[in-house]
Amino acid sequence: MIKSILGRCIFIATLLIAIAMSTCTQPSGKNENNTSNPSPWWKEAVIYQIYPRSFRDADGDGIGDLRGIIEELDYIKSLGVDAVWLNPIYPSPNADNGYDVSDYRGIMAEFGTMKDFDEMLKGMHDRGIRLIMDVVVNHSSDEHEWFKQSRSSRDNPYRSYYHWWPAEKGKPNYRYSLFDETGNAWRYDSLTDAYYLHYFSYKQPDLNWENPQLRQEVYDIMEFWAKKGVDGFRLDAFQFVAKDTAFPPFPEGFEKDFIAYYAMQGNIHEYLKEMHLRVLAPYKVMSVAEGAGRNFEDAHNLVDPERKELDMAYAFEGVDIAKYDGYSLLHFKEVFSRWDSAFAEKGWLSVFLANHDQARMVSRFANDTPAFRSASAKMLHTFLLSMRGTPYCYYGDELGMTNIGFSRIEQFKDIVAINSYKKALSKGEDMDLFMKKLSFESRDNGRTPMQWNDSPHAGFSSGTPWLPVNNNYTEINAAAQDKDPDSVLNHFRRMVQLRKSNPVLVHGAYQLLAPEHPEIYAYTRIWGEEKAVVVLNFSTEKQRFQMPGLSSPTKVLINNYPHVETTKNGGEIILSPYQGIVFSVTP
Ligand code: GLC
Repeated sequence: MIKSILGRCIFIATLLIAIAMSTCTQPSGKNENNTSNPSPWWKEAVIYQIYPRSFRDADGDGIGDLRGIIEELDYIKSLGVDAVWLNPIYPSPNADNGYDVSDYRGIMAEFGTMKDFDEMLKGMHDRGIRLIMDVVVNHSSDEHEWFKQSRSSRDNPYRSYYHWWPAEKGKPNYRYSLFDETGNAWRYDSLTDAYYLHYFSYKQPDLNWENPQLRQEVYDIMEFWAKKGVDGFRLDAFQFVAKDTAFPPFPEGFEKDFIAYYAMQGNIHEYLKEMHLRVLAPYKVMSVAEGAGRNFEDAHNLVDPERKELDMAYAFEGVDIAKYDGYSLLHFKEVFSRWDSAFAEKGWLSVFLANHDQARMVSRFANDTPAFRSASAKMLHTFLLSMRGTPYCYYGDELGMTNIGFSRIEQFKDIVAINSYKKALSKGEDMDLFMKKLSFESRDNGRTPMQWNDSPHAGFSSGTPWLPVNNNYTEINAAAQDKDPDSVLNHFRRMVQLRKSNPVLVHGAYQLLAPEHPEIYAYTRIWGEEKAVVVLNFSTEKQRFQMPGLSSPTKVLINNYPHVETTKNGGEIILSPYQGIVFSVTP
């Protein structure tokens, strides 16, 4: 009996692989299978995030660019993804790689021209791929014209575009800066004898959202891009925009829990409603804010459709679990299950394990050693693409790219790495431990150039890349994986197609199974008559698992191993290290 189930599973799995392979280059639009339950495109979408600096360099200056993206549009299409989220591409002095914008309506010269942008957008749309732009408006660059004007004199019309504190009032109350090397978010500017506020680096002064004129400027900018045809906006650090401009004192040590003091303050919901009315609704663009506030209530208030603010929440609790000293799967399961249940009835979440602010997903959440890298990267994709919410794939993760693990401070490029090093040094921290943590957790790990092939610099650039390519590119690269049906890349493509052809994986109710199991993450997804069971082994050992419904007709929808092993009596399945299987169960 089990043998025949097993045989059938293997057969079906092979068949599905063949089907998925043959369809993996089809662009996917709205899920036609789900017309009985129409939902906005972004709910059924898979989003691919591109860090343009590191994706593909077409002109050989060592820096990725828009023409590089244009050259790879067919590759992006071959992934089956529906939308690209592009990190900032606007002119910037690059104190924080584009998150310090000096002109919101332009294109960074290193990345190309507006003509390139238009061609890229058209190329995406021609392939059925939408574009989500990063809008960085908690702060601008200190080299933006607004700030230049603002700092020039106290009565300049742009003065109130930023937060200034005149020095004659004494020192302003302490505000914590996430990026500053001293930790202080106020910087003294002798030109007008005043301090200005910067929650991030001093090169990123915070904009004054309490000024209605500034808000109109921002909506105009968003309108400019919406008119060009962009399909969505990701609002950078938006939860911090509203501030109590009296800047009252905060309790000593507040910075340990700064989100409680910085996020979702003042009139932020009014601003979002205003933005919705002015830009998001009329241009029908999707919207996702970075950060989802202090609690579920905040997160819901951001994305409750009736409130007409934003579409999708992007919460950090899940991605933040993995640290230098590891994480527990029990914690991981608890967090993802808690967020799912909080959004089961209303609202919509993003599902992700990586982005440009994190080290590589396989190095943090799975196992990047040669023996397990491939299986564990596939397993993570099985997880991300079988959860409710909109999955995001960060460039290179579809290949299982790993941390580069710099060990000397001179190797790091990221402002956070450099300034936190200075801060730790000045506070007399254990620098040995600091460097170990930095090597594992640094954002630079997630920003090394895309590994396209095994030619010099991984085919990323003919020049010297701005950040070194990971040495493992001869082994981990897109060209090799494209040819290998068993690669992480092709598993990712199959998983995307599986999600597209099974609405249960998008919309189905989620229920955690075996919550106490320390090594296995298993859950069901149920949608009408359809039921899927996802079983993931997060360990380097074989694990036994009692599969509910194994006795009823069970079909393997996807498996990152060629087999499904079961115990002799057939009561349990035996999962290989990092094995991940999605079953379809007939109720
Ligand atoms: C967001 C971005 C991050 C940037 C910061 C300041 O957190 O994701 O990359 O450094 O905002 O703009």
